[in-house]
Amino acid sequence: MSFVASGLTVRLYPATGVVHAVDDVSWSVEAGKTLAIVGESGCGKTVMSLAPLGLLPPGVSADVEGSLTLDGAVPKLGRDVGVVFQDPPSAFNPLRRVGKQVGERAVELLELVRLPDPERVARAYPHELSGGMLQRAMIAGALAGEPRVLIADEPTTALDPSMQDQVLDVLSELQARLGLALVLITHDIGVVKRMADDVAVMYAGRIVESGPAARLLHAPEHPYTRGLLAAVPAPDVEPGTRFVGLDGAPPELTERVRGCAFAPRCPVAIDACAGVRPELIDGVSCHVRTHARSR
Ligand SMILES: Nc1ncnc2c1ncn2[C@@H]1O[C@H](COP(=O)(O)OP(=O)(O)OP(=O)(O)O)[C@@H](O)[C@H]1O
Ligand SMILES: [Mg+2]
Repeated sequence: MSFVASGLTVRLYPATGVVHAVDDVSWSVEAGKTLAIVGESGCGKTVMSLAPLGLLPPGVSADVEGSLTLDGAVPKLGRDVGVVFQDPPSAFNPLRRVGKQVGERAVELLELVRLPDPERVARAYPHELSGGMLQRAMIAGALAGEPRVLIADEPTTALDPSMQDQVLDVLSELQARLGLALVLITHDIGVVKRMADDVAVMYAGRIVESGPAARLLHAPEHPYTRGLLAAVPAPDVEPGTRFVGLDGAPPELTERVRGCAFAPRCPVAIDACAGVRPELIDGVSCHVRTHARSR
């Protein structure tokens, strides 16, 4: 089984104009494996994973190009791909019981994600549950259609460390039991280290570096990835270690960036960087590296 994004490009049209949110992004993930998607806030992680499934920010229209396929076919939301949304409290309807929102077999699913007393949880309203419980209920809901792929958008961000561990345990266990392919969007290097087989680093709507987690975490090659990981003692990162902020800010995405989008913040940029967009070569999209290699 293979879940493949190919040339995904998303333009959003809010009232203020156009946002080039995602620009020619490709990746793939296999059954039982985890692809982590990382990058600063606003770089397009959520839009990239949800817009191709028809899930758009409220009130915003969009053009989506490229494809997201499961074994070559267009996946059905819920049945083939389950989604764990970024902000559980706002993803649940506050006026409906949790069980009704998780779906048929709610109690069984709530048990699957290791919620104690699933009957009681099913009868509860969202505000009666802790953040960690609600997060697990959302995972349960995403599994209702028995999908083969789970997209989890920042599933541990809002939780305290012990809850984070529990949620990650649940995800790992489900993955092992059900052979789920997992697309895991996260700001947390500890989560990447613990969960990811592969990592894709996004910047300004593009992938700047991708590859096996073991390689990428220990020998990042793109200046942006190096910046993100700079302050982290690689061998012993714990869950809860967030990527460091870099100086400066990513570009506005109201215009499509011509060259390398990171060039204005890049400590090693050369003239070529502003010119044309660097291709992703051996998992790294960087003119400086290509230049160094060709000499
Ligand atoms: N409702 C919206 N209206 C206008 N622009 C939006 C809207 N939602 C997202 N965008 C823009 O699309 C781009 C990608 O946003 P996205 O939410 O995918 O980022 P993200 O990487 O998931 O960020 P975060 O880490 O904060 O969740 C950003 O430039 C953002 O400003
Ligand atoms: Mg997001």
